[in-house]
Amino acid sequence: MSPFQLTRTLPEDATEADLRSDVLYGLTASPKELPPKWFYDARGSELFEEITRLPEYYPTRAEREILIDRAPRIAAETGARTLVELGSGSSEKTRFLIDALLPDLDTYVPVDVSESALTGAARALLAERPGLRIHALIADFTRGLALPASPGPRLVAFLGGTIGNLLPAERRTFLRAVREVLDPGDALLLGTDLVKDEATLVAAYDDAAGVTAEFNKNVLAVLARELGADVDPADFDHVALWNREQEWIEMRLRARHALTVKIPELDLAAPFAAGEELRTEVSAKFRQEGVRAELAEAGLELAQWWTDREGRFALSLARVR
Ligand code: SAH
Ligand code: AVI
Repeated sequence: MSPFQLTRTLPEDATEADLRSDVLYGLTASPKELPPKWFYDARGSELFEEITRLPEYYPTRAEREILIDRAPRIAAETGARTLVELGSGSSEKTRFLIDALLPDLDTYVPVDVSESALTGAARALLAERPGLRIHALIADFTRGLALPASPGPRLVAFLGGTIGNLLPAERRTFLRAVREVLDPGDALLLGTDLVKDEATLVAAYDDAAGVTAEFNKNVLAVLARELGADVDPADFDHVALWNREQEWIEMRLRARHALTVKIPELDLAAPFAAGEELRTEVSAKFRQEGVRAELAEAGLELAQWWTDREGRFALSLARVR
């Protein structure tokens, strides 16, 4: 049997229907908004990888530091034979976990909306670990978690702080869905970026080289390609701001002048006033007590809390209560 299997859990036309309904809803809402999952076509996935190497974007380096330190302990504590990773992207940091779990690891199940990220990651992993079995799922983790049969115990990893890209109500639904797929003895490994000073946070989302601005505007390229939207990214400015009350970063696209985004196939003409903004992402930052409480509400117990040496980012290991 081939060590690599790729399964699309939703037909392509369902993804397209999702995009249409998100755009119809989000561009007629007030204020305008779109879910961040639409950043990640092949170009968006590449741009995210570039972001992870920027001097201002500390979360990837901080989480890698924790993984390098703690992977052997995580492997010993979980004894996982299946590693599921939600929003796995390039799986670049995951290799530390995989290597700590081998040789007992039976299957790695990366789950992502980005097919290009999944195939690229699998190719890179298999080149160095030809014995590893990978069953990749093209799936939206906010739409239920249908996982392939594989041996337990299972470790579900959700790294990078991607949980912060879900709104609080979405996080509640999501964590309950994770709880449902865990059996006693399974575990969740959750990466969360932590609250810190505003200047550090804003710089991480508004880098000097403009890569995050390009990533943000990439959603407009997705609308143009997938829906034939008549929209010019040059008509928008990238905005990153810290929302102190909600403790999240917001990325927005601000119209440089009055304009209308036309999408004839949706029968949509969305007018933007000069300066009007479209929210494209929230990136929530966390505190230990908040993480503990959100896990508990979903029926999960915080068992371990590890941070990098500078205390910028945390990895939590949680168990079924
Ligand atoms: N875990 C990696 C990548 C983080 S980028 C890291 O820590 O570096 C976020 C990843 O989640 C992207 O690969 C994106 O395609 C994926 N993603 C975003 N929303 C998703 C969703 N709703 N369902 C599945 N994957 C999603
Ligand atoms: C994937 N996710 C955790 C990133 C974040 O930091 O919220 C996405 C990102 N947005 C802008 N830069 C990176």
